[in-house]
Amino acid sequence: MAQVSLRNITKRYSQSSLAVDNINLGIENKEFIVLVGPSGCGKSTTLRMIAGLENPTDGDIFIGDKLVNNIPAKDRNIAMVFQNYALYPHMKVYDNMAFALKLRGYSRNDINKRVVNAAKILGITHLLDRKPRQLSGGERQRVAVGRAIVRKPLVFLFDEPLSNLDAKMRVQMRTELNKLHQKIQTTMIYVTHDQVEAMTLGDRIAVMKGGKILQCDTPLNVYGKPVNKFVAGFIGSPPMNFIEGKIAARDSSLYFDEGKFNLKTSGRMKDNLSKYIDKKVILGVRAENIYDKLFAANATAGNTIRTVCDVVETMGSHNYIYLLAGRHTFIALVEGYNKPVSGESLEVVFDMERVHFFDPSTEETVV
Ligand SMILES: Nc1ncnc2c1ncn2[C@@H]1O[C@H](COP(=O)(O)OP(=O)(O)O)[C@@H](O)[C@H]1O
Ligand SMILES: [Mg+2]
Repeated sequence: MAQVSLRNITKRYSQSSLAVDNINLGIENKEFIVLVGPSGCGKSTTLRMIAGLENPTDGDIFIGDKLVNNIPAKDRNIAMVFQNYALYPHMKVYDNMAFALKLRGYSRNDINKRVVNAAKILGITHLLDRKPRQLSGGERQRVAVGRAIVRKPLVFLFDEPLSNLDAKMRVQMRTELNKLHQKIQTTMIYVTHDQVEAMTLGDRIAVMKGGKILQCDTPLNVYGKPVNKFVAGFIGSPPMNFIEGKIAARDSSLYFDEGKFNLKTSGRMKDNLSKYIDKKVILGVRAENIYDKLFAANATAGNTIRTVCDVVETMGSHNYIYLLAGRHTFIALVEGYNKPVSGESLEVVFDMERVHFFDPSTEETVV
């Protein structure tokens, strides 16, 4: 049982470099939390401070109720799985998994029980006699996880554990990690730069940038209610479309005016958008919220614009169509049978209930 609490955690590697900038994060017991963000944003540093491999410059780390700032890594009862599995090449899988337990003086019998049980959970019982070089990437990854499981730690830390695997194996291991978490019900903190991994694994995800946590919430809330333009663009694939324009007031409604086309905004956004009348604003819309008018049930004069199809990317079940309108290119996600050709003129409908608006200077969400 362990919750983890980071309070005002800052890490400076030198006077000029601020790797982690005053992070506050409470992680619940048994929660699977994912730290996600671009390379260099401070994810690994945060994880390494929880593990005790780095000391925070400032702030407190609690595991359970215990302040662990001064407790060395080996006494924190935490297991970490790294990107490069760091298996001992000369040892069999069994001994790789048993090693940390031997060092800690566990009995042979206890060690055997734990290794066999972990191997069963991970489906690697048949590999226990092999050496790491006789394993595939996915199998090595399982052994690395097994080595962490046998210790029955309070908290698991994962630092980009799947990034050395090919795409197919990554998807498979993702599912297995999900199942593993359900089975062993232990707090897990997982670091990745891959937003798909974050969305699919996390009970909550913390989006980081420049050493700060910008937003920490459930995957659906982060996707549906991003706090700023960075989070909106980082989470989701293809990235959210951004269209620059201004707000114009006409016949008691507010319109988003791109210059070459207009879209009538939703009445529920009126209060927030009224500060932006005649001012610049950025409209954000996800590909799945733009429809071909031919297939849209909710087309009105206010939410429909004329575009030219630039490129079509066929995905099988669906297509991405790159559309040109005014000064902008944006991507719409349409059904697989809906396949316009390049150069074709196309009327599309924006779901104006689902669009977002961002302030162009602060990039914060307006509504
Ligand atoms: N040991 C170190 N010494 C100096 N700077 C470091 C060290 N480790 C990381 N950094 C810097 O701290 C910042 C955050 O790094 P890191 O936590 O590794 O990011 P991420 O894991 O998100 O890619 C980066 O600017 C990186 O260059
Ligand atoms: Mg890292």
